[in-house]
Amino acid sequence: MERPGIFDAFAIKGVGFRSRVLRSSLGGRMATYDGQVTPAWRNFERRFARAENRLGGIISATIDVDDKRMSPLEYPKLSHDRFIGPLAEGIRAVQAEGCRYIVQLGDPGGHTQASLLSEDADGKSASRTFDLFFGYRNTTSPMTPEEIAAEVDAFRSAALRVRQAGADGVEITASKGYILHQFLNPATNRRRDAYGGSEEKRFRLLKEVVTAVRAAVGQDYLVGVRLSAEDFNYLPMYNIRLPLAWPLRDHFMGNRLETTLRYGQWLADLGVDYLHIDSGFGFVNPKGSPGQYPFEGLRLFCNSVRHLSAKAAVRATLLNLWPTGLARRVLGVGWQIRPAANAHYARAFRRQVKIPVIANGGFQELDKIEGALAAGDCDLVAIGRPLLANPDLLAYYANGEKPIRPCTWCSLCCTRTAVLPIGCYDISRFDSQAQMQDQILRLSSDHSA
Ligand SMILES: Cc1cc2nc3c(=O)[nH]c(=O)nc-3n(C[C@H](O)[C@H](O)[C@H](O)COP(=O)(O)O)c2cc1C
Repeated sequence: MERPGIFDAFAIKGVGFRSRVLRSSLGGRMATYDGQVTPAWRNFERRFARAENRLGGIISATIDVDDKRMSPLEYPKLSHDRFIGPLAEGIRAVQAEGCRYIVQLGDPGGHTQASLLSEDADGKSASRTFDLFFGYRNTTSPMTPEEIAAEVDAFRSAALRVRQAGADGVEITASKGYILHQFLNPATNRRRDAYGGSEEKRFRLLKEVVTAVRAAVGQDYLVGVRLSAEDFNYLPMYNIRLPLAWPLRDHFMGNRLETTLRYGQWLADLGVDYLHIDSGFGFVNPKGSPGQYPFEGLRLFCNSVRHLSAKAAVRATLLNLWPTGLARRVLGVGWQIRPAANAHYARAFRRQVKIPVIANGGFQELDKIEGALAAGDCDLVAIGRPLLANPDLLAYYANGEKPIRPCTWCSLCCTRTAVLPIGCYDISRFDSQAQMQDQILRLSSDHSA
C-alpha cells in the first residue's frame, strides 16, 4: 500500500480533505458578550483557510453548548438559534477557499475558568471535588439527573445548529478536562448512580450525548469525538485535587490507555466516524500542550480571575510569590516539547478501533508529520500552536522550504488567549514588540497579511 503524504487527499464519510493537516481548535475572545461569533472570528478562521495555505480543514474552537457558563468571556456559543446565522456566514467563507470546517462542541463544566460574576452553574461537574488549578469555583458540585438530561439536550440541539450552519461535520469534545471528560475520569467522577462507579457508567453521559447528536444530525453526517488517550491526572504536578480517589492509581493517573481504547471501541460501535486523539486532563496541561512551562501566562490568567472566588485569589497569590526563574524550574516539571507527542496513542487507536484517527500535539516539522502518516499512526494530523505562529506553514513545505520563524512551543498563546487577543506572544520570534503586536492584531483583521 502506498504511504500517504502530507498533501494527499483523504475523505471521511464523503467529506474530502485536500491535505492531511487540519488546524486544531484555537479558542479566542472573538464573540460578542453573549457568544455570537464576530467578523474578527470570521477573518481569523479565513486566514488559515486560504487556498495557498493548503490546510485540509479547520476544527473550530470549543463552541459552548451551555447557555449559562461563560468560559472564557467572549468565546462563541451555540446555545441558541440566533447564533447560527453569523456562524454560517464564516463557515461559507472558509469553505469558499476549499477548506473544510468542523465545529467542535463542548462545555467546560467544573473547569469553567472565567465568568462575569461567580455562579453555581460554573462549578457543575460529575461530583464534588476541590481542584486548585482547574476551574475557579472553590469546589465543583454534582449534576442532578435533570441537569444531566438538560446537558444531553444542549449537545443535541447545538449539533443540529452545526448542521444548519452548513459545517462539514461536528466534533464532540470528551477531552481537555471538560464536562464529558469530568464524567469519564475516575478521579473527578465519584458517583455511585447510573453515571459513575464503573467504566461503563462513567461512559454513559458521553454515550447519551453521542446518541442524541447522531439522532439530531442524521446518519449521513460526519460526527467525531476528541478523546484523551491517557489522563495523567498528576500533571501539572503543582495541582491539588481532593478528596483522594481510590484506588490511588485512579487518582493520580485517571483513565489509562486500556480503558480509553475501550471507550474508542464503544464510540465506533455507536457510529462515530473518527477519533481525534490527544492526552492529558485539563487545559492547559503538559501532555495536551507539550512545550515550555508558560509561567508568565498562567500568572497573568490567574490574576485576571482572582476576584471570582477565594480559591482563585489564593491560587493567584501563590503564583505571585514565585520568582520566575525558580517557578520555571520547580513548577515547570513535566513541561517539555515532545514532537508528535501523541502519535503513539493515535496508532494504538487506529490499529485497534479501525476508524479514521486524527493525531494532535507537537506536530510542526515536515518529517514528523509525514513520518506519522507514513507509519500509519494516523490518517490526519491536527496542528495548533505552529499554525498560530505561521498560518502558512504548509505553504513553506509545498515550496520545499521551512518556516523562517517556527513556533518555539513557549505556550504563552495558550495561557493568554482567555485574557488577551489570540496570537503568538513569543517575542523572540519577532524583531520588536511592535512587530509582534502587529502580527497579533492582523490575525483577526481582513487586510491581507
Ligand atoms: C490559543 C489556543 C487556544 C486553544 N483552544 C482550544 C479549544 O478551544 N478547544 C480545544 O479542544 N483545544 C484548544 N486548544 C488546544 C489545541 O487545539 C491543541 O490541542 C494544542 O495546542 C496542542 O497542539 P499543538 O502542539 O499543535 O499546539 C487551544 C490551543 C491554543 C494554543
